Amino acid sequence: MARFYITTPIYYVNDVPHIGHAYTTTAADVAARFHRQLGDDVFFLTGTDEHGTKVEQAAAARGLTPKEHADEMVVKFKDVARRVGAGNDFFIRTTDPQHEKYVQDFVQRCYDAGDIYKSSYSGLYCPACEAYCAEENLVDGLCPDHGTTPVHMDEDNYFFRLSAFQERLAAHYRDNPEFVRPRHRYNEALSFIEQGLDDISISRATLKWGINVPWDPTQVIYVWVDALINYLSALTYASSQDLFDRFWPATYHLMAQDILKFHGVIWPALLMSAGYELPEHLFIHGYLKLGGEKMSKTRGNVMDPFPLIDRYGADPFRFYCLREVSFGQDGMVSEEGFKARYNSELANELGNLVSRTVSMIGKYRGGAVPAPPPERLPEDDSRDGAAVPRQSPGSADAPVGPPARLNSPLAAEAEATCEAVRSQLEDMDLSAALESVWGFVRRLNRYVEEQAPWKLAKAAATSKEAGAGTAGGEPISRAVDGDVSAAEQAAAALDATLWDLAEGLRLLSVLLHPFMPATAAAIRERLGPMLQTDRPTVAGEAAGDVHGIGDVGVGAGPSWREAAWGLLPPGLSVVAGPPLFPRIEE
Ligand code: MSP
Repeated sequence: MARFYITTPIYYVNDVPHIGHAYTTTAADVAARFHRQLGDDVFFLTGTDEHGTKVEQAAAARGLTPKEHADEMVVKFKDVARRVGAGNDFFIRTTDPQHEKYVQDFVQRCYDAGDIYKSSYSGLYCPACEAYCAEENLVDGLCPDHGTTPVHMDEDNYFFRLSAFQERLAAHYRDNPEFVRPRHRYNEALSFIEQGLDDISISRATLKWGINVPWDPTQVIYVWVDALINYLSALTYASSQDLFDRFWPATYHLMAQDILKFHGVIWPALLMSAGYELPEHLFIHGYLKLGGEKMSKTRGNVMDPFPLIDRYGADPFRFYCLREVSFGQDGMVSEEGFKARYNSELANELGNLVSRTVSMIGKYRGGAVPAPPPERLPEDDSRDGAAVPRQSPGSADAPVGPPARLNSPLAAEAEATCEAVRSQLEDMDLSAALESVWGFVRRLNRYVEEQAPWKLAKAAATSKEAGAGTAGGEPISRAVDGDVSAAEQAAAALDATLWDLAEGLRLLSVLLHPFMPATAAAIRERLGPMLQTDRPTVAGEAAGDVHGIGDVGVGAGPSWREAAWGLLPPGLSVVAGPPLFPRIEE
């Protein structure tokens, strides 16, 4: 079984979460859900970064101890994951005692390897970045990222010999051209390495809020070293079993470009020093921008995702972020943009497609999805008299093999969509995958217009009234001895169209699951109880996990084996319901 370990950055608890944090967590969740659908062994980690100067300062400003402050703020960050519908398997806090102990052991390994020495640091430090910075990189004396004034620091610290890893790091980049993605971020990180690396201070003498250096408790470990190690430490205590062998090295560390240097340079060097394998990939997505600028609390321009989520649900929010912004590039977001896309694509396109399909099956076929007409079945099946494909998507053990190829005008496009979405998601091109899914939503809507089921129903009924031989008012769906009346033809075409649409919705429920899990489940519900499928995740298995993430109740969703045309099981009865996406009227 393939494994897939994905992480988000652990977020600072100095302030409340904003849409940028929700974005990364959502994107990681999309990838994790897709890999669960593939049947991979998935571990999805997020959490909070709770030590360091800025958390200490934020707590002091509120008259709280740092731990009291962190305990309050962490609730809001756990809530981000819950409200965007993320099924993370664990939520790590860097104040967890198990993490703290692990960090000390890790740093001790680097010390024992001879990569840490004592020296003095004299220079600038930006608390907003939690980073040492050089005078020449400031803009008008201010941090270019945060617009804040760095502080001067002069203290004896422990230093990590980053310079000693320059060659090995560059070689790793050259040997692994996919180590950092997308490519321009790889180039950025490699060129930073090639410009020459200086040793870095990895402890603080004046700060109290941190993990003690194991061999010198007068110093605390630099917050970034403490934080990066979370990706390893979590595996040692997230579950009653040690997950290290099962999941390390991480498949993807996901983040925006602000923290590329820490992950692309310092983290791999620390891992090399301590003797661990490096993560397989870093994926750097872009910034969500508001009014042309990166959102940042320090700058005071942030968009709060929660009112939108509370009002319209997690799925429209997830959809908007991944549809509006090309994954891997920066993009502008706004509340107006959200509402416009919601109305045009969710309400008018997807919502409408679902409601009209269900209502037409209700109106024309008494709510039962018709069997496809015999001439639409492959020859072997029609000789057997079988009216439906042999595979049932409800069963995890359904036989694999070529699906019954119904001769539908949608079949080829549906199969091409499944293939494209799979390869785009495997490639972490999340927005391109959603674009492919949307192409199929639009195709189904066009199909409704082309086939005009209401006309077919009318033709079937009109001919019937003219005495075209229906039994008991039941629509005719089978041709008799090649003598096909107009009514029979219309009824058969109607059956075929309604079957195609129901099958199209079933397929969408599989392809949409990573992006909009609640919507995918709602579509399956409308297609009838037979389609409900869910399997447990690592979080679901991990009873009693220390941060209560197991209660998110996220299942693995419909298997990706269902992403093929022609698997609609027989005997489905559709269930009408309220609109999935009521229009926003304001
Ligand atoms: N605590 C560190 C990370 C340590 S990881 C070992 C940190 N925290 S943070 O709270 O500042 O989070 C930064 C991350 O939040 C970004 O890399 C990105 O994942 C996400 N984003 C924050 N603002 C964002 C946008 N405006 N747009 C997109 N992502 C954003 O850095």
